[in-house]
This record gives sequence, C-alpha cells and structure tokens, in this order.
Amino acid sequence: MSGPVPVERRRAARSPAADLAAAIRAEREFLMTDADFERIRALARSLAGISLSGGKMDMAYNRLSRVLRARKLRAMREFLDLVDGGDAVAQQQFINALTTNLTKFFREAAHFEVLADLLRATGGRRPLEIWCAGCSTGEEAYCIAIVALETLGADAPVRVLATDVDTDVLRRAQAAVYPRSAVSEVPLARLRRFFLEGTGANDGKVRPRPEVARMVRFEHHNLLAPDWPRRGPFLAIFCRNVMIYFDAATQMNVLEKFAPLLLEEGLLFAGHSEYYAHAVRRWTRVAHAVYRRLPGAGGDVRPAEARTEPA
Ligand SMILES: C[S@@+](CC[C@H](N)C(=O)[O-])C[C@H]1O[C@@H](n2cnc3c(N)ncnc32)[C@H](O)[C@@H]1O
Repeated sequence: MSGPVPVERRRAARSPAADLAAAIRAEREFLMTDADFERIRALARSLAGISLSGGKMDMAYNRLSRVLRARKLRAMREFLDLVDGGDAVAQQQFINALTTNLTKFFREAAHFEVLADLLRATGGRRPLEIWCAGCSTGEEAYCIAIVALETLGADAPVRVLATDVDTDVLRRAQAAVYPRSAVSEVPLARLRRFFLEGTGANDGKVRPRPEVARMVRFEHHNLLAPDWPRRGPFLAIFCRNVMIYFDAATQMNVLEKFAPLLLEEGLLFAGHSEYYAHAVRRWTRVAHAVYRRLPGAGGDVRPAEARTEPA
C-alpha cells in the first residue's frame, strides 16, 4: 500500500552520515554555510591556485576557525568579506590557514642523488643557483644546500633561493629550529656533519650548521602571481608536492614560466606523485618526476590529462 511516509520513517531514511554532518554543523562555534564554503573554494583557487575538493568543508572550517577566533568574528561570511574585499592581512591569513605544509628532511630521497650528479657535472666552477619553490618549513632547501656541500665541498658556489606563499612557514624556515624527531631518518654521519644539537632550553632540538643555513635565502613568493621578479638562471628548480594542489591549467601556466628560468642543462624536480603528461612538448622526463626542458621547444603544449589530487 502506498501513501504519505510517516515522519519517523522519513527521518530514518536519512543517512547516519548526513545526520551527523547536520549535527556537527549545528554545533559549530562559527556560522558557516554551504555558500560560504563555495566562496572559500573560489578564493583559495584565485589567491593561491589551491583546488579544494567538495569534501573538504570540515577541513576548511577547522583551519579557518582559528583565524575567526583570533579576530573575534562570529560568522565565516564576515571573514570572507574581508578576504574578498582585498584586505591584504586577511588574504595572507586565509592562505596560511589553507596551505598544506607537509614536508621532511630528504623526502623522496632519490632526487638528491640526481641533484648530486647534476652538481658534479658542472664541476662546481661557477656560481650556481637552485630554486626551491614551495619550500614550506625549510627542510627541503637545507637538504639541497647539504647535498651541494657534500658534492662540491665547503666552497660549493651554490645559493638556494627558497620561496613559499605561506608567511608562517617561512618564519619557521628562517628560524631553522627543528625537533630531534625531524632528523630521525638522517644518517648519523650526515647529522653530525651538518646539524647542531640544542642544549639547555633547546634540548631535543636541532638546527642546520651556519655553513648550511647561510647558503639558503627565504623569500615570499606566490607561484600564481602574474609577475615574477627577475630571477635565475637556475641549475635546478625544486617544486615538489606544491602543484599537486593546482588544476591542470594552473600547472601549465607555472611550468611555462619555469622553463626559461632554467639553464640548458637544468632540471625541474616535481613530487613523486606528480606527472606532467600535459607538458610533453616542452619537457622531457629524465628520471622519476624529474624533467628537462626540451631545447627550442615552443610554447605549444597539450592540455589536460594532468594527474592532480585536490587538497
Ligand atoms: C606539501 S608542501 C611541500 C613542501 C616541499 N616542497 C616538499 O616536497 O616536502 C607544499 C608547499 O607549497 C606551498 N604553496 C602552495 N601554493 C603555493 C603557491 N601558489 N605559491 C607558492 N607556494 C605555494 C604551501 O604553502 C606549502 O608550504
């Protein structure tokens, strides 16, 4: 027999996950609507190139709620109005909250062997610049400097430019103080040679030795900025696990801007799970997630087919 469904049964038909989501939403400290989340997604994309998937509403709320609390705001809309209205401080807080900064010393270690070969091939006779784009808290940039010292010796004529869009991580990178656990996988000989162990108040902490730190300079830079300051040419550009959060068109755009900044023998290092199938006319893959610019290749590149994982 068909007819109107009793209220109890209609309630029961809602999935437990939907009920839970509604309950959590109702108990939120700050008001945030689905429309606010769509606004967050659009702003994250336009300000930093970050693609947030539709399932990341709770993540976005949790990360941004710290900012709302500090600003004593009641609703997400109030903060988004500031970001949307061009308030530079609010925009930077928004970006800092939404970036994913996971990194570690000698992450994707095979790349550092490729780098050592590249450095060796130069003979170390001329000044060399390496760009670490999306450096997060600095581990990757210091590793590049360490490999340069190991390969070319104490007088390695290598400078590392390390940049990120997130000003919080840049501060930590510059401070260069890490918990001892951050270097637990670094072999002891390397650790002794290139790191100092803290004592007293800094017990349990490590920092790269001054000869490592002085090779690295940190700067704020948004890969999405229309105009990049004049830089390079670079022997290598490390941009690992950064563009994984960008859509294919944004990746293409950045790859196009990287190309003329590399020396002819230069290499672009991407993250191990990043594969630029859409850039085959401009770049050739020489090792896992390592690319060399093709000589004389034009800017005509195939669109789409990029492997991206939304944040
Ligand atoms: C997951 S971390 C990767 C860190 C390091 N490259 C590694 O592989 O270990 C990604 C970094 O990219 C930065 N990032 C994201 N969007 C960016 C943009 N538009 N311009 C510059 N850096 C960006 C983030 O702030 C974050 O610190």
